[in-house]
Amino acid sequence: VINISQRAKNFPFSPIRKLMPLAEQAKKKGIKIYHLNIGQPDIQSPKIFLDKLKNYNEKVVAYDRSEGREEFLESFCRYYRKNKISLKTQNMIATYGGSEALFMAFCILFDKDDECLTIEPFYTNYLTIAQSCDVKLKTVTTALENNFQLPPIKEIKKAVGPKTKAVLICNPNNPTGALYPEKVLKELIDFCCQKNIFIISDDAYRDFVYDGKKIISLLSFKKAKDIVVVCDTLSKRYSLCGARLGAIISRNEKVIKSALKIAQSRTSISSILQSAASCLDQVPKNYFSKILKEYQSRRNTLIAGLKKIPGVKFGHPQGAFYLIAELPVKNSEDFCRFLLNDFNYKGETVMLSPAKGFYLTPGLGKNQVRIAYVLNCNDIKKSCLILKKALQKYTINSK
Ligand SMILES: Cc1ncc(COP(=O)(O)O)c(C=O)c1O
Repeated sequence: VINISQRAKNFPFSPIRKLMPLAEQAKKKGIKIYHLNIGQPDIQSPKIFLDKLKNYNEKVVAYDRSEGREEFLESFCRYYRKNKISLKTQNMIATYGGSEALFMAFCILFDKDDECLTIEPFYTNYLTIAQSCDVKLKTVTTALENNFQLPPIKEIKKAVGPKTKAVLICNPNNPTGALYPEKVLKELIDFCCQKNIFIISDDAYRDFVYDGKKIISLLSFKKAKDIVVVCDTLSKRYSLCGARLGAIISRNEKVIKSALKIAQSRTSISSILQSAASCLDQVPKNYFSKILKEYQSRRNTLIAGLKKIPGVKFGHPQGAFYLIAELPVKNSEDFCRFLLNDFNYKGETVMLSPAKGFYLTPGLGKNQVRIAYVLNCNDIKKSCLILKKALQKYTINSK
């Protein structure tokens, strides 16, 4: 029999999408599902982008430059300039979203069997990307009790071995919503500079920071210019998940040169979408302030709703749009299945992501779920009530 690679066999299925078939079955039964399992924002994409897309009138839909259309890259530079970071178009390569930027970073920075140290719980696709590039993912663990803040630098030092080529962080964090303060980032930068280790910064949620707090970009640490590689995306910034637009950004010329070679191997990303996206830095300022206000009240609504459910513990997310909650159950995956298979409250139920797949350390996250607060406040309120009712029924059933 013809066989596929061991590498491919080892890939995990996304824990975020794994339960989709059950959700489809529930929908067929006429049950309405509140999707709190996936980071797909319901915010409308910017009108100027949609208008430009509608007015596309080139005669040939041609390939574009491999490094990305100049005007597209310039709009990235303008966005960063507004955020007080000075970059040139030569510091970046346009990518198919943050996902391709991450793939490129892994391909470029690691040799086979090198190690990448990341923070657990982590965005699950890191594992598949690492495995695709024959990189070993290692983790340091963050805990709910500590609001999932980075552990002291001495723990990171302990976890770094001779094979560690890079530390990968996601700030603000998916799945925990943690935002890392400047002092901690500075310590991390100092350590990595001293050890000559790269830092990959997944900045997918850099625009989603609440309570008046500020995000510190690792690009602002000048001394770290050779070790910092940022994976950026427009997916969440402008609610453009399906446009597949992003960039790998670094002031390290070797990194960008290598990214260009990979970019050439897939010719270019969409010329149409880059053209439409080049105007995005012109979205009015209140586009972001309105969205931030909305997400902050969604977070507050979720927290208020969860507080009313006995036995549920959770951190206080300061960014992104996720929260990890500990439920009074032994096995959260079993509970998530129950929600879809065996439960509804007035014809409605909720879909959550079991958190086990966000951890590498066996046993961790077993009673946790990730909740994406990407629905309006009313739906979040309803979802919390459904969750409360479901936990009551599940607990009685399992007694
Ligand atoms: C932390 C993180 N990084 C990267 C991505 C990839 O996003 P995209 O490829 O749409 O830019 C996501 C998507 O949800 C994410 O949550």
